Amino acid sequence: MTRKRGMTLLGIFGSLLSTLGCGGTDAASALGATDGGDSSATTREAATVPKGAEAVMKRKCATCHGDNMAGSTKAIDGVTSDPRVELYAPNLTPDIETGLGDSSVADPAKRGYTDLALARAIRNGYDKDDLQLCPQMTHFAEMTDFEVFSIVKYLRSMPPVKQKILRSVCPPLKSKAEQSGG
Ligand code: HEC
Repeated sequence: MTRKRGMTLLGIFGSLLSTLGCGGTDAASALGATDGGDSSATTREAATVPKGAEAVMKRKCATCHGDNMAGSTKAIDGVTSDPRVELYAPNLTPDIETGLGDSSVADPAKRGYTDLALARAIRNGYDKDDLQLCPQMTHFAEMTDFEVFSIVKYLRSMPPVKQKILRSVCPPLKSKAEQSGG
């Protein structure tokens, strides 16, 4: 990472690009754009479960992800008029198999969501494997660290629910064939 004097504009452009996922693709670097240093670590630590519950209510996450956050087993209606799109909001409870998974697993292919990756999914629309989520899942790009990490804490505090959710379809990003192919 090089930083030259008088290149502020490029710097801003660069962080915008990485926010959009065109630059660095690891969760930490993309988050860096909105994360800025030590003070945000304090904000993150200040995050609380009740504030997360409030934020989830205010942002209406449950309209798609369900009151128990265990996802939608039926395709969500009324989000788009595109007939090819089928949206199933994933299970956001801490269930290891069907929910957010176990973030301490060494194998990246089997690793669950880390807190940073969750924050990035919510704000920037990328999943834990760096793949773009269907754009119909709103990007809450303006969310503060305090709010997003409060939501993360709240999700982690929920009772795990074992409920497998179908993969969403939103061509060209996610095709029907991939859904059945697994
Ligand atoms: C309009 C319906 C809708 C709303 C509202 C919504 N989501 Fe989602 N969300 C989705 C869908 C659909 C997906 C799956 C997209 C995909 O698979 O590409 C998703 C994916 C996610 C993921 C990634 C999960 C995974 O397994 O990869 C997270 C985390 C998430 N949403 C959190 C939230 C939070 C937190 C809120 C509220 C602040 C919220 N969502 C609001 C529909 C919604």
